[in-house]
Amino acid sequence: MLTKIITEGTTNVEVPVPDENSSFPPSSVAVFYNPAMKTNRDVAVAAIASFSKNDPQYSYLDALSASGIRGLRIANEVGLNTTMSDWEENSVELIKRNIELNSLTNCTALRRNANVVMLDGSFDIIDLDPFGTPAPFLDAASFSTKRLLCVTATDTAPLCGAHKKAGIRNYSAVPLKTEYHPEMGVRILMGAVARTLAKYDKAMTPLLSYASAHYVRLFASVKKGIVEADKCLENMGFIAHCFNCGAREWKHGLAVHIEEKCPACGHKTSLAGPLWLGRLHDRGFCEQVLDEIAKRELKGVDKLISTCRDELEIPMHYDIHKVCKMLGITAMSTVDLISALRERGFQASRTHFSGISFKTDAEMEEIKGIVREMASSNS
Ligand SMILES: C[S@@+](CC[C@H](N)C(=O)[O-])C[C@H]1O[C@@H](n2cnc3c(N)ncnc32)[C@H](O)[C@@H]1O
Ligand SMILES: [Zn+2]
Repeated sequence: MLTKIITEGTTNVEVPVPDENSSFPPSSVAVFYNPAMKTNRDVAVAAIASFSKNDPQYSYLDALSASGIRGLRIANEVGLNTTMSDWEENSVELIKRNIELNSLTNCTALRRNANVVMLDGSFDIIDLDPFGTPAPFLDAASFSTKRLLCVTATDTAPLCGAHKKAGIRNYSAVPLKTEYHPEMGVRILMGAVARTLAKYDKAMTPLLSYASAHYVRLFASVKKGIVEADKCLENMGFIAHCFNCGAREWKHGLAVHIEEKCPACGHKTSLAGPLWLGRLHDRGFCEQVLDEIAKRELKGVDKLISTCRDELEIPMHYDIHKVCKMLGITAMSTVDLISALRERGFQASRTHFSGISFKTDAEMEEIKGIVREMASSNS
């Protein structure tokens, strides 16, 4: 395996040199390495530093470690007691060389099935970074984690509703492909994590959850307790979406009755869920992550976190282009529409999901009324 040494954050890592002619270069080599996930790892360093306060007694498991790049950064840049595990021999050899390269004494490398590692012991923080869905690892991770669960899912098509059957198989929930599909993905994943933790009498509090073009990411603090677990499940529910007029309604509960007809237009609605209807982020935690990002001079991630911090806590964003297309009106700027909603007494914010998305407590018909007004006052 041809390798080279790169520096990510302040950590040196020997990584494989991918075959650029392959359709997906990170998977073309004996050990997986994706430079494009640097942003994901930068956020992880800042988030885990915020959560652990750099306490070296915290144990951290990088359960699907590949080159070890994620765990090495946590050991080196945050100082946690780190275990890196992978079932491939090539990976574990590379991880061991990388531990030496950085002269780290707070690391262990294991060649084992991730589920066995997690069922065999407990860790304060567990990070799941699989190729595709984290579903096969959620039970063991929920059993094993004591304080924080970090999950990446790259199977965005099943999560967001584009591959509905795979979504149902992996997450025991029905996703719907709508204009707010990235948020659908985040909430389907969060719902699956909350329900899996509940099996082990644990509750989650989302600290930071986001979707990027190719993956969904979640940081959730974990607490053991049946009262807490029951309370956590109160955040579960369903979304009824009208594909005719774009209206949506949500209802909390796991056995709910939802009217089949759209209250706005009378068309039959479609149902997604069970999914997470609670908050996606903790504002104070986002502030701490921003401080860590600034302190560590991590580039290109502060906007994502500050937008998450400032997002309204209302399920399912709107897409300006979609609303305007339904009305046959040229799209206005996100900033202008948000101002117009606020001027009329509604809450409104940008979202991290896309530059043309917004959240508001206004209903679809109210939004359409404002968009029409804006269009006619401009003509
Ligand atoms: C996407 S890669 C991990 C990438 C890495 N975390 C990073 O940031 O670059 C997934 C890794 O999981 C390993 N893997 C897959 N299933 C596993 C299992 N059941 N037990 C242990 N390792 C597994 C694969 O060998 C692969 O190295
Ligand atoms: Zn409708």
